[in-house]
Amino acid sequence: MKPLKFKEYIIRAERLSDAKGMVRLFNALVDENADINRNKKITLKEAKETLKEGVKNMKKKEGVYLAALKGKEFVGSVCVIKNHGKQSHTAGLGISILKPHRGKGLGEALMKAVIEESRKSLKGLEMISLGVFKRNKAAKNLYKKMGFKTVGVLPRVLKSGNKYFDEELMHYWLI
Ligand SMILES: CC(C)(COP(=O)(O)OP(=O)(O)OC[C@H]1O[C@@H](n2cnc3c(N)ncnc32)[C@H](O)[C@@H]1OP(=O)(O)O)[C@@H](O)C(=O)NCCC(=O)NCCS
Repeated sequence: MKPLKFKEYIIRAERLSDAKGMVRLFNALVDENADINRNKKITLKEAKETLKEGVKNMKKKEGVYLAALKGKEFVGSVCVIKNHGKQSHTAGLGISILKPHRGKGLGEALMKAVIEESRKSLKGLEMISLGVFKRNKAAKNLYKKMGFKTVGVLPRVLKSGNKYFDEELMHYWLI
């Protein structure tokens, strides 16, 4: 896809050269104990492997992986990855933004960009689904604003330390 401009940010497809930025972003989220599934820091090697897989999936039109940059700084990431078999009409979504860049509309811009690109490039895609900590108000409001609907709650499927959390499932139909 062609890079897009949103305020002071550029949104473009992720590249192998984003590995250091991805380590910084994902590990900052682990440090802040954000309400996401990841709870372990990633290494540079793992980030390179993740990006390699992403670039390959983009080429095969099985996923869309976008980065948000401010200058050379990698400040946000969003992906939509197609499922397989009898779930190949669906895809999963993940999004994260560095704390200082939240609350400025970037999440919304990334969501719009990834949905539009998924519509164009992921053949047969009918629905995007995601799981979110029930208490993650910022993420849930963003998803609702984009048109996602809550379809269920899985009680206590997330555990952080010795505490259990409910996960809300949300769906967005493209058809
Ligand atoms: C969730 C996240 C991606 C939102 O991105 P963002 O750039 O801050 O969101 P935006 O500024 O584009 O806001 C878009 C909408 O989201 C909602 N929202 C964003 N921040 C919010 C907050 N702190 N409280 C409540 N709602 C919020 C609002 O509905 C907002 O629309 P509005 O401005 O018209 O009210 C960001 O907070 C983040 O990366 N969080 C940590 C990682 C995470 O939780 N990822 C999701 C895991 S499922």
